[in-house]
Amino acid sequence: MKEERGSWGSNIGFLLAAIGSAVGLGNIWGFPYKMGKSGGFTFLIVYLLLAIFVGFVIMMGELAMGRKTGKGTIGAYHDLSKKFKWVGWLAVFSPFVIMSFYSVLGAYCIEYLALNLSNLAFAGGAIMTGSDLFVAMLTNPFGAVIFTLLFMVICYLINRGGIASGIEKFNKVGMPALFVMLVIIIIRSLTLPGAVEGLKFMFVPGYAVEAGFIEEAPGFLTVLATAGGQMFFSLSLAMGAMITYGSYLSKKESLVKNSVIIVIADTIVALMAGIAVIPAAVATYGPSAALSGPKLLFITLQDVFSAMGTVGPLFGVVFYLLVLLAAISSAISLIEVISTFFMDRAAAKGKTGKRGKIVFWTCLAIMVEAAVVAIDGLGANGMWVPFQNAFGIIGEFNDCWLDFMDTLSEGIAMPLGALLMSIMVGWEIKPKTLLEEIDPSGKKWLRVFFSACMKVVVPIGMLLVLVGQIDTFFHLNIF
Ligand code: PFF
Repeated sequence: MKEERGSWGSNIGFLLAAIGSAVGLGNIWGFPYKMGKSGGFTFLIVYLLLAIFVGFVIMMGELAMGRKTGKGTIGAYHDLSKKFKWVGWLAVFSPFVIMSFYSVLGAYCIEYLALNLSNLAFAGGAIMTGSDLFVAMLTNPFGAVIFTLLFMVICYLINRGGIASGIEKFNKVGMPALFVMLVIIIIRSLTLPGAVEGLKFMFVPGYAVEAGFIEEAPGFLTVLATAGGQMFFSLSLAMGAMITYGSYLSKKESLVKNSVIIVIADTIVALMAGIAVIPAAVATYGPSAALSGPKLLFITLQDVFSAMGTVGPLFGVVFYLLVLLAAISSAISLIEVISTFFMDRAAAKGKTGKRGKIVFWTCLAIMVEAAVVAIDGLGANGMWVPFQNAFGIIGEFNDCWLDFMDTLSEGIAMPLGALLMSIMVGWEIKPKTLLEEIDPSGKKWLRVFFSACMKVVVPIGMLLVLVGQIDTFFHLNIF
């Protein structure tokens, strides 16, 4: 059975793939801008605490669920609990929804990469400003659909190759390359005059308010909700990705050690991305640039590269290629969650060798929903969006299809999935069911830590994150 499902070629191959899943647009795009919006240093501390007490625990739990049952998300929930078996569906629904916009953002990276490449070859500098370029791209739905298709074809070709010779192979080259490129961008960013302001904004407590970056620090619960949502998304949790990757992992490997490495690596890359992006933005455009939200990646940074003169497009190529690699390595894990479910189901009926077909249909279904997000162009093309401005209370989080899909998945399904998972593990099947898989030697500190976090810390944390998201979504201003 194991042979037919496939498995990782080596532990390092698994690690690079899991880190590849974790390191994505969330690190390079989400982390720097959310840190900017949430007052820098405070956000960082809250994020780190959440990564240790919630992220690390759920990471171990998810890997254990996959490895113990030897099945993908739906199968794993099904085998572990009668009451909670439907949660598996939630954790397959979310990757499907996330892919609707993740693929479009990946497509934007290809477009920016192509643009910088052509600038490098022909113009010797950027021809348009970041914002003109962004608008031109968004208002060209045909181009967006074509590039989204290209992104999906790349993912399809990797996933079709299977666990060891597709996903693992890609990450073994992609992840080290991404790291080297990130270091190059950091060196460039930190050597720009004025970069130190950006660093202070990130690391000096209270500096963001003191230096006028933001008027007042956001409330603690708002920071908690933002950091919590970000942490889950960034670590690829509550989406079935780690359950799926864990189901292909050999029983010999340590789940504790692997989880520690994945969480640390993902956090380091998020911090490195912050150091690559924020000081460059602040050095070129002043404090407001750090707070420019989602625009940071596609407008501000493109302007930063343009301002560098002739070498600008070269850094542009390196940067957008690294973002593209990060997007692909995450997207393939999301696709794998969905296709593993269908492959396990086919295998249960005695049908094997269907990977190619299943991956094809999965990618095609994603392409259909992604086309809607691509055509919408972040709301630039006047498309109808479900519940837009409904009752006059749903506003900024539902301005376009991308926001709608993001709120549905990252905003609601993910924290809800994590909350339900922790209740199932903590109170229904009991932590010891997974602890047997996580640490057969039964270390006391781990037992106490895992049980306390699963039973109490994670459910409370997740509840707060969920309420925080709903609060922001409906403009309730409870916090
Ligand atoms: N972790 C990815 C990021 O930071 O962009 C996104 C992601 C991938 C979320 C896979 C969930 C997942 F299952």
